[in-house]
Amino acid sequence: MKKWNILYTSTTTLLLTFSTVHAADAVSGLLQDYKKAGVAQFSASQGKRLWYSNNNGRSCTTCHTQSVKNTGKHKKTGKTIKPMAPSVNPKRLTDKRKIKKWLLRNCKWTLKRECTTQEKGNILMWLKQQ
Ligand code: HEC
Repeated sequence: MKKWNILYTSTTTLLLTFSTVHAADAVSGLLQDYKKAGVAQFSASQGKRLWYSNNNGRSCTTCHTQSVKNTGKHKKTGKTIKPMAPSVNPKRLTDKRKIKKWLLRNCKWTLKRECTTQEKGNILMWLKQQ
């Protein structure tokens, strides 16, 4: 019984250690997926351009502000949104599922369509460097 407890404890510790994911890990995982889907390479500068692009008055900056290092504010609900840049907010871009969910929602709201895998890769490439 005791032996199992020790085994259990050390496995849990191991899992906890491995679950400290960094932005780079989650993003590179997604970029790998996009590559498998056929994207040859990603462009941070194109990602930045899309981020700041104006789409009939809507932009990623509408909620995330002009600087990804600033605290944002949701256009409709007024809720604060923590800074997007991993350099000031290390919790950013650490969860693949969260990234996917919000890219889908926010592209739809901002561009009135889903982003392509190329566009998503470009944005993440740029964002992770911020
Ligand atoms: C209408 C407001 C709004 C707009 C416009 C918006 N976002 Fe967001 N975004 C949010 C909210 C709210 C969250 C989730 C809350 C949070 O993560 O702090 C979020 C989260 C994200 C995340 C997840 C970050 C993470 O740490 O996992 C990404 C990526 C993202 N947005 C990208 C974009 C992109 C790209 C655009 C432009 C195409 C955009 N957002 C436009 C409100 C917005």
